[in-house]
Amino acid sequence: MIARLSPKPLQRLYSSMVGQKNHASPCPLSPRLDGKIALITGANGGIGKETARGLLQRGAEVLMLCRNIDKAEQARRSFVADGLDADAIKIIECDLADLDSVMAAGQAAKNYLRGRKIDILIENAGVWARRYGETEQGYEISFGTNVLGHFALRRMLQAGSLARHARIIIVTGDIYITTEACSSRFPWRGAVGGMRAYARSKLGNFWIARELQKQCPDFNVFVVHPGVVATRLGGGGRLTDWFKRKLLISPTEGAQTSLMCATQCDLSHGSYYHNVHGECETDNADPAMNDEAAARLWARCMEMTAACEREKALRLAS
Ligand SMILES: NC(=O)c1ccc[n+]([C@@H]2O[C@H](COP(=O)([O-])OP(=O)(O)OC[C@H]3O[C@@H](n4cnc5c(N)ncnc54)[C@H](OP(=O)(O)O)[C@@H]3O)[C@@H](O)[C@H]2O)c1
Repeated sequence: MIARLSPKPLQRLYSSMVGQKNHASPCPLSPRLDGKIALITGANGGIGKETARGLLQRGAEVLMLCRNIDKAEQARRSFVADGLDADAIKIIECDLADLDSVMAAGQAAKNYLRGRKIDILIENAGVWARRYGETEQGYEISFGTNVLGHFALRRMLQAGSLARHARIIIVTGDIYITTEACSSRFPWRGAVGGMRAYARSKLGNFWIARELQKQCPDFNVFVVHPGVVATRLGGGGRLTDWFKRKLLISPTEGAQTSLMCATQCDLSHGSYYHNVHGECETDNADPAMNDEAAARLWARCMEMTAACEREKALRLAS
């Protein structure tokens, strides 16, 4: 059954929180993923680490694209200690807030794959900044990391490294409902500004996912809300972490919706999957349904990544 989501922010956020602990539906361990290749960003902690663990448990070979390599090595050690196959894990450094690093990571993935194709791409990494910041190329940090970094990575992989019918899982967050815009420049201050910038980037994730499915109908694109999860997102502290653990779901529970979309048959590609509501339909008044804004954002991301690629080519030529 397809759930119909309210376009009203308070109703939406309330329905995301209430009952999510009782809605935990673990992703089945079958079908297996033996012989499949998955690439996931932000796999060194939080939801991404548990998603990577789930992929490995099902037999996939997993490329973990991570900014903090020490944390990625720790994650690898914990997987191996749990009996998972060390040879199935490849760690590649990737700072999504720097398009040069993204391009180097895309190239490293291609070199590693040697013509083999990625079956499952999970765009999971995300930042909710507490202070205003910009990426290496000068874009607002939430936008630059969550939207543009993933856009540039996917663009590189699309040139010969993604399987024709690859599943592409783009992790958004229901908080996107609190905003109507997403752009590369958004000067903000204070805690509320940081939340708004994050929400805008999550709307951007949703728009890009819908536009990707439109432009590349052979792909199986899924937009995922993982739940409200006790992770490091947005920062923490002893008391905050304690409240998060008490009130929110665990990272393992938060990984289940991405794992469902990565593995299960009979899903509707192009759809929004929510940890509480399952497959969802959104109202026309929902900001995610603004196709014109989505197309504009897509075009802008293309310009920004192409500019960076041109600069890199010039640097190499000189
Ligand atoms: N937690 C929630 O309640 C919730 C709700 C809705 C949606 N989500 C989404 O779920 C996804 C995972 O978040 P989480 O809750 O697991 O948060 P988390 O524990 O903070 O993990 C975020 C991951 O993203 C990585 N990351 C951040 N900035 C990066 C960069 N510049 N380059 C590469 N990797 C970077 C982090 O790596 P480092 O170790 O290097 O920082 C980490 O692996 C995000 O897209 C988030 O928006 C979360």
